[in-house]
Amino acid sequence: MIRPSASMLPANTSLKTVNSTDDRPEAESLLPSVGLLALDRQYAGLREEIRMAIERVCDSGRFILGPDVHELECELARALRVPHVISCASGSDALLLALLALGIKVGDEVILPSYTFFATASAVTRLGAVPIFADIDPITYLIDPADVERKISQRTRAIMPVHLFGRTANMDALLPIARAAGLPVVEDAAQSILSTWHGNCSGALGDVGCFSFYPTKNLGGIGDGGFLTTTRDDIAASLKLLRVHGMEPRYYHQVVGINSRLDSIQAAVLRVKLPHLNDWTTARQSNAARYMELFSQYDLEHHVVVPGDEPRGRHVWNQFVIRVSDGRRDALRAHLTKCNVGTEIYYPVPLHLQKCFEPLGWRTGDLPATERAADETLALPIFPELEPAEQRTVVGRIAEFFGTPTPRRSTADATGSASAAQATNGPHFLRRMKAVGRADDVRC
Ligand SMILES: Cc1ncc(COP(=O)(O)O)c(C=O)c1O
Repeated sequence: MIRPSASMLPANTSLKTVNSTDDRPEAESLLPSVGLLALDRQYAGLREEIRMAIERVCDSGRFILGPDVHELECELARALRVPHVISCASGSDALLLALLALGIKVGDEVILPSYTFFATASAVTRLGAVPIFADIDPITYLIDPADVERKISQRTRAIMPVHLFGRTANMDALLPIARAAGLPVVEDAAQSILSTWHGNCSGALGDVGCFSFYPTKNLGGIGDGGFLTTTRDDIAASLKLLRVHGMEPRYYHQVVGINSRLDSIQAAVLRVKLPHLNDWTTARQSNAARYMELFSQYDLEHHVVVPGDEPRGRHVWNQFVIRVSDGRRDALRAHLTKCNVGTEIYYPVPLHLQKCFEPLGWRTGDLPATERAADETLALPIFPELEPAEQRTVVGRIAEFFGTPTPRRSTADATGSASAAQATNGPHFLRRMKAVGRADDVRC
């Protein structure tokens, strides 16, 4: 029987509560299905508050921007400890607005990873600028600073790291590179709200940060939405103008902007959710720690590489992405699908090999670490409301696939209760990260 170890649980969680369904034979502990997401569980807990918030907006007749949007911006600024928050209609628009505010134009080059969601690159091409794709670090899947440095040219106008899967890119390396070259840094933090780097929030590290309220994000709306952060007064002023067609005052247009405003219903709903974000993030961290323990108990590290935590900051686990090599990723996914376990591939085709970017001339083999990640990675359910029994089912099904269905007993069971933060940031994690080493060293 697999038991969650005390060290994987939040400090105030009693083992008795979590283990209450554990006294069952091993075979019975695997559930008939586990979804990749369960947004309904979050909604169920907030249903009344959300409905009241929507009703309040409807009664007010203020649907675009308005008081709820202003309050949300202030609350986010406090939560992220950043002086300026400017909301907009989506994370994709946030990226576009950031580049517009920096004056990126036709022919300029912007360096970004190819292993990211499409919007990071399309913001660049939409302005007639050229995306220059950098490879990733094979362990973190985040942009490789050494490759960024190699790709800086006379035409480079910005660097766009993506804090993918909830983990901040290596800003210790990237910021000095950008500073030395005199380049602004646009952080794509769509997947990493509340992540930190040496105690500072993502989005407040470079010149401008871009976030998404897409429903599956750690702070998701009930539709599209996004926001930008900046510590720079000049950029904040530009962004406020650019999101309303450059209009100030009404019907007087200072610059050509776009229409990208957050609507009040989204803001009102997000204001209900924001006070819970820290707890949801802690739950994601606990879930990540529990997966680590389960993969170890089943000796699955010989077959998959599990992601490590980030010792220099807070990893907020928007995704828990494992690496499966020997060409077995798709077969594993098919097995999990057959067992009703939801998974996803982020992302099956790297951006430099997308059809729409063919004219840019990139070829297979240009970004080896990126291409390998696209072939080998698989995201597992990690949402905050995920139950321990569901995680045991996910890992149990993976173990079935690899023919190692019997777990070792957890050594951590005897260690007493430790906080989730210790489990994810403490020596246990550091030992695990060391054990994994660089991807090339790993048998996976
Ligand atoms: C890394 C990244 N950048 C940008 C975006 C775009 O955000 P949105 O879907 O809100 O436009 C997303 C969201 O899917 C994302 O994951």
